[in-house]
Amino acid sequence: VTVGEPIDRFVARRRKWTWADARRAIHHDRIAINGVICRRYHRKLAPGDRVAVDGEPLLDALDDGVVLCHKAAGLACSHTPEDAPLLYDEIPSELRHPDLQSAGRLDRDTTGLIVLTIDGGLIQRLTDPEVALWKRYRIRFVGRLDADAESRVAAGLRLPDDALPCLSARLTIASVQVDSGSATLELCEGRHHQVKRMILALGGRVVALHRDRIGALDLPADLPPGAMRPATPSEIASACGG
Ligand code: URA
Repeated sequence: VTVGEPIDRFVARRRKWTWADARRAIHHDRIAINGVICRRYHRKLAPGDRVAVDGEPLLDALDDGVVLCHKAAGLACSHTPEDAPLLYDEIPSELRHPDLQSAGRLDRDTTGLIVLTIDGGLIQRLTDPEVALWKRYRIRFVGRLDADAESRVAAGLRLPDDALPCLSARLTIASVQVDSGSATLELCEGRHHQVKRMILALGGRVVALHRDRIGALDLPADLPPGAMRPATPSEIASACGG
Protein backbone atom coordinates (compact mmCIF):
# COMPACT_ATOMS: atom_id res chain seq x y z
CA VAL A 1 0.00 0.00 0.00
CA THR A 2 1.00 3.64 -0.22
CA VAL A 3 2.06 4.41 3.32
CA GLY A 4 0.30 7.41 4.89
CA GLU A 5 -2.49 7.52 2.30
CA PRO A 6 -6.00 7.67 3.83
CA ILE A 7 -8.01 4.51 3.17
CA ASP A 8 -10.81 6.28 1.26
CA ARG A 9 -8.31 7.85 -1.17
CA PHE A 10 -6.42 4.60 -1.60
CA VAL A 11 -9.55 2.59 -2.40
CA ALA A 12 -10.89 5.32 -4.71
CA ARG A 13 -7.61 5.45 -6.62
CA ARG A 14 -7.21 1.73 -6.99
CA ARG A 15 -10.84 1.06 -7.89
CA LYS A 16 -11.20 4.24 -10.00
CA TRP A 17 -14.06 5.27 -7.71
CA THR A 18 -14.87 8.74 -6.44
CA TRP A 19 -14.00 9.42 -2.81
CA ALA A 20 -17.76 9.44 -2.13
CA ASP A 21 -18.01 5.91 -3.60
CA ALA A 22 -15.14 4.77 -1.40
CA ARG A 23 -16.70 6.31 1.71
CA ARG A 24 -20.04 4.67 0.91
CA ALA A 25 -18.25 1.31 0.65
CA ILE A 26 -16.61 1.96 4.03
CA HIS A 27 -20.01 2.92 5.46
CA HIS A 28 -21.43 -0.38 4.18
CA ASP A 29 -18.64 -2.39 5.87
CA ARG A 30 -17.20 -3.53 2.51
CA ILE A 31 -13.59 -2.53 3.23
CA ALA A 32 -11.23 -4.49 5.46
CA ILE A 33 -7.69 -3.71 6.54
CA ASN A 34 -5.72 -6.76 7.65
CA GLY A 35 -8.96 -8.75 7.85
CA VAL A 36 -10.73 -6.25 10.11
CA ILE A 37 -13.63 -4.15 8.76
CA CYS A 38 -12.54 -0.51 8.56
CA ARG A 39 -15.07 2.14 9.67
CA ARG A 40 -12.86 5.26 9.51
CA TYR A 41 -12.57 7.15 6.21
CA HIS A 42 -9.35 8.84 7.28
CA ARG A 43 -7.55 5.76 8.59
CA LYS A 44 -4.01 6.19 7.20
CA LEU A 45 -2.31 3.18 5.71
CA ALA A 46 0.75 1.80 7.48
CA PRO A 47 3.56 -0.37 6.07
CA GLY A 48 2.36 -3.92 5.53
CA ASP A 49 -1.38 -3.08 5.65
CA ARG A 50 -3.44 -5.35 3.43
CA VAL A 51 -6.65 -3.86 2.08
CA ALA A 52 -9.59 -5.85 0.72
CA VAL A 53 -12.86 -4.77 -0.90
CA ASP A 54 -15.69 -7.31 -0.48
CA GLY A 55 -13.02 -9.78 0.61
CA GLU A 56 -10.93 -9.29 -2.55
CA PRO A 57 -7.37 -8.03 -1.90
CA LEU A 58 -6.44 -4.71 -3.49
CA LEU A 59 -2.86 -4.95 -4.60
CA ASP A 60 -1.16 -1.62 -5.02
CA ALA A 61 1.24 -1.39 -7.93
CA LEU A 62 2.69 1.76 -6.38
CA ASP A 63 3.86 -0.08 -3.26
CA ASP A 64 7.24 1.63 -3.12
CA GLY A 65 5.87 4.87 -4.51
CA VAL A 66 8.36 4.93 -7.41
CA VAL A 67 7.69 4.53 -11.12
CA LEU A 68 10.31 4.13 -13.84
CA CYS A 69 9.41 5.69 -17.14
CA HIS A 70 10.93 5.63 -20.60
CA LYS A 71 9.76 9.03 -21.73
CA ALA A 72 8.76 9.17 -25.38
CA ALA A 73 9.42 12.28 -27.48
CA GLY A 74 6.59 14.82 -27.64
CA LEU A 75 5.46 14.72 -23.99
CA ALA A 76 5.92 17.57 -21.51
CA CYS A 77 6.99 16.83 -17.91
CA SER A 78 4.41 19.33 -16.67
CA HIS A 79 1.07 19.40 -14.87
CA THR A 80 -0.16 22.41 -16.88
CA PRO A 81 -2.96 21.39 -19.28
CA GLU A 82 -1.85 24.02 -21.84
CA ASP A 83 1.45 22.10 -22.21
CA ALA A 84 -0.38 18.95 -23.42
CA PRO A 85 0.40 16.26 -24.39
CA LEU A 86 1.63 15.61 -20.85
CA LEU A 87 3.73 12.76 -19.49
CA TYR A 88 1.36 12.60 -16.50
CA ASP A 89 -1.62 11.86 -18.76
CA GLU A 90 0.20 8.72 -19.99
CA ILE A 91 0.45 7.17 -16.50
CA PRO A 92 -1.53 3.92 -16.42
CA SER A 93 -4.47 4.07 -14.00
CA GLU A 94 -3.01 1.48 -11.60
CA LEU A 95 0.05 3.72 -11.11
CA ARG A 96 -1.78 7.02 -10.77
CA HIS A 97 -1.41 9.02 -7.62
CA PRO A 98 -2.15 12.73 -7.09
CA ASP A 99 1.29 13.32 -5.55
CA LEU A 100 3.35 11.60 -8.27
CA GLN A 101 6.08 13.99 -9.48
CA SER A 102 9.06 13.56 -11.78
CA ALA A 103 12.54 13.84 -10.30
CA GLY A 104 13.70 16.65 -12.55
CA ARG A 105 12.36 17.21 -16.03
CA LEU A 106 13.27 16.19 -19.53
CA ASP A 107 12.49 18.54 -22.42
CA ARG A 108 9.54 17.65 -24.64
CA ASP A 109 11.82 16.36 -27.40
CA THR A 110 14.17 14.46 -25.04
CA THR A 111 13.64 10.73 -24.58
CA GLY A 112 14.81 8.28 -21.94
CA LEU A 113 14.81 7.39 -18.28
CA ILE A 114 12.86 9.44 -15.79
CA VAL A 115 11.84 8.57 -12.23
CA LEU A 116 8.39 9.51 -10.95
CA THR A 117 7.73 9.29 -7.24
CA ILE A 118 5.50 10.40 -4.38
CA ASP A 119 8.57 10.55 -2.12
CA GLY A 120 9.85 14.13 -1.81
CA GLY A 121 13.06 12.92 -0.11
CA LEU A 122 13.84 10.69 -3.09
CA ILE A 123 13.28 13.58 -5.52
CA GLN A 124 15.74 15.60 -3.45
CA ARG A 125 18.34 12.80 -3.53
CA LEU A 126 17.96 12.34 -7.28
CA THR A 127 18.15 16.02 -8.20
CA ASP A 128 20.31 17.82 -5.62
CA PRO A 129 23.69 18.73 -7.22
CA GLU A 130 25.29 18.39 -3.76
CA VAL A 131 24.46 14.67 -3.85
CA ALA A 132 26.51 14.47 -7.07
CA LEU A 133 24.45 11.76 -8.72
CA TRP A 134 25.52 11.27 -12.34
CA LYS A 135 23.03 11.22 -15.19
CA ARG A 136 24.15 10.09 -18.62
CA TYR A 137 22.91 11.64 -21.85
CA ARG A 138 23.46 10.35 -25.38
CA ILE A 139 23.63 13.21 -27.84
CA ARG A 140 23.54 13.69 -31.57
CA PHE A 141 24.60 17.14 -32.66
CA VAL A 142 25.23 19.18 -35.77
CA GLY A 143 28.13 21.57 -36.10
CA ARG A 144 31.68 21.15 -34.93
CA LEU A 145 32.59 21.01 -31.26
CA ASP A 146 35.65 22.94 -30.11
CA ALA A 147 38.87 20.92 -30.10
CA ASP A 148 39.18 21.34 -26.31
CA ALA A 149 35.48 20.61 -25.63
CA GLU A 150 36.13 17.60 -23.36
CA SER A 151 38.64 19.40 -21.16
CA ARG A 152 36.49 22.55 -20.90
CA VAL A 153 33.58 20.42 -19.71
CA ALA A 154 35.81 18.65 -17.21
CA ALA A 155 37.08 22.00 -15.90
CA GLY A 156 33.54 23.40 -15.43
CA LEU A 157 32.05 24.97 -18.56
CA ARG A 158 30.88 28.59 -18.47
CA LEU A 159 27.46 29.16 -20.03
CA PRO A 160 26.80 32.64 -21.45
CA ASP A 161 23.64 33.23 -19.35
CA ASP A 162 24.77 31.68 -16.05
CA ALA A 163 26.82 33.48 -13.42
CA LEU A 164 28.32 30.26 -12.06
CA PRO A 165 30.25 27.80 -14.22
CA CYS A 166 28.79 24.31 -14.56
CA LEU A 167 30.05 21.66 -12.18
CA SER A 168 32.79 19.49 -13.59
CA ALA A 169 31.19 17.00 -16.03
CA ARG A 170 32.34 14.28 -18.41
CA LEU A 171 32.03 14.71 -22.16
CA THR A 172 33.08 11.86 -24.44
CA ILE A 173 32.93 12.51 -28.16
CA ALA A 174 31.94 9.21 -29.74
CA SER A 175 32.03 9.98 -33.44
CA VAL A 176 32.61 13.03 -35.61
CA GLN A 177 31.57 13.49 -39.23
CA VAL A 178 32.23 16.64 -41.25
CA ASP A 179 29.54 18.76 -39.64
CA SER A 180 27.84 16.54 -37.08
CA GLY A 181 28.63 13.92 -34.49
CA SER A 182 27.57 12.00 -31.43
CA ALA A 183 28.70 12.25 -27.84
CA THR A 184 27.97 11.21 -24.30
CA LEU A 185 27.66 13.76 -21.54
CA GLU A 186 27.49 12.85 -17.86
CA LEU A 187 26.22 15.54 -15.50
CA CYS A 188 25.54 15.67 -11.80
CA GLU A 189 23.37 18.77 -11.94
CA GLY A 190 20.28 19.60 -13.96
CA ARG A 191 20.10 23.22 -15.01
CA HIS A 192 17.39 24.28 -17.43
CA HIS A 193 18.19 22.83 -20.92
CA GLN A 194 21.70 22.18 -19.62
CA VAL A 195 22.88 19.66 -22.19
CA LYS A 196 21.61 21.72 -25.11
CA ARG A 197 23.15 24.91 -23.73
CA MET A 198 26.50 23.21 -23.06
CA ILE A 199 26.69 21.79 -26.58
CA LEU A 200 25.77 25.21 -27.98
CA ALA A 201 28.55 26.82 -25.92
CA LEU A 202 30.95 24.27 -27.41
CA GLY A 203 30.03 25.05 -31.03
CA GLY A 204 27.33 22.46 -31.80
CA ARG A 205 23.54 22.12 -31.70
CA VAL A 206 21.74 19.14 -30.20
CA VAL A 207 19.41 17.38 -32.63
CA ALA A 208 18.63 14.30 -30.53
CA LEU A 209 18.92 13.79 -26.77
CA HIS A 210 18.34 10.61 -24.80
CA ARG A 211 19.02 9.92 -21.10
CA ASP A 212 19.99 6.29 -20.56
CA ARG A 213 21.35 6.22 -17.00
CA ILE A 214 20.61 7.76 -13.59
CA GLY A 215 23.15 6.96 -10.85
CA ALA A 216 23.92 3.27 -11.36
CA LEU A 217 20.57 2.53 -13.00
CA ASP A 218 20.54 1.92 -16.75
CA LEU A 219 17.29 2.41 -18.63
CA PRO A 220 15.81 -1.10 -18.20
CA ALA A 221 15.65 -3.17 -21.38
CA ASP A 222 12.01 -4.09 -20.66
CA LEU A 223 10.89 -0.45 -20.88
CA PRO A 224 10.22 0.50 -24.51
CA PRO A 225 9.60 4.19 -25.33
CA GLY A 226 6.41 5.35 -23.62
CA ALA A 227 6.34 2.53 -21.05
CA MET A 228 6.12 2.93 -17.27
CA ARG A 229 6.19 0.42 -14.45
CA PRO A 230 6.85 0.32 -10.69
CA ALA A 231 10.53 0.38 -9.76
CA THR A 232 11.90 -2.52 -7.75
CA PRO A 233 13.68 -1.73 -4.45
CA SER A 234 17.04 -2.62 -6.05
CA GLU A 235 16.37 -0.30 -8.99
CA ILE A 236 15.54 2.50 -6.55
CA ALA A 237 18.83 1.86 -4.73
CA SER A 238 20.71 1.85 -8.06
CA ALA A 239 19.12 5.14 -9.16
CA CYS A 240 20.39 6.64 -5.88
CA GLY A 241 23.91 5.63 -6.82
CA GLY A 242 23.95 1.89 -6.12
N1 URA B 1 19.42 18.82 -20.80
C1 URA B 1 18.67 19.34 -21.78
O1 URA B 1 19.06 20.28 -22.47
N2 URA B 1 17.46 18.80 -22.01
C2 URA B 1 16.98 17.76 -21.28
O2 URA B 1 15.86 17.30 -21.56
C3 URA B 1 17.78 17.22 -20.27
C4 URA B 1 19.00 17.77 -20.04
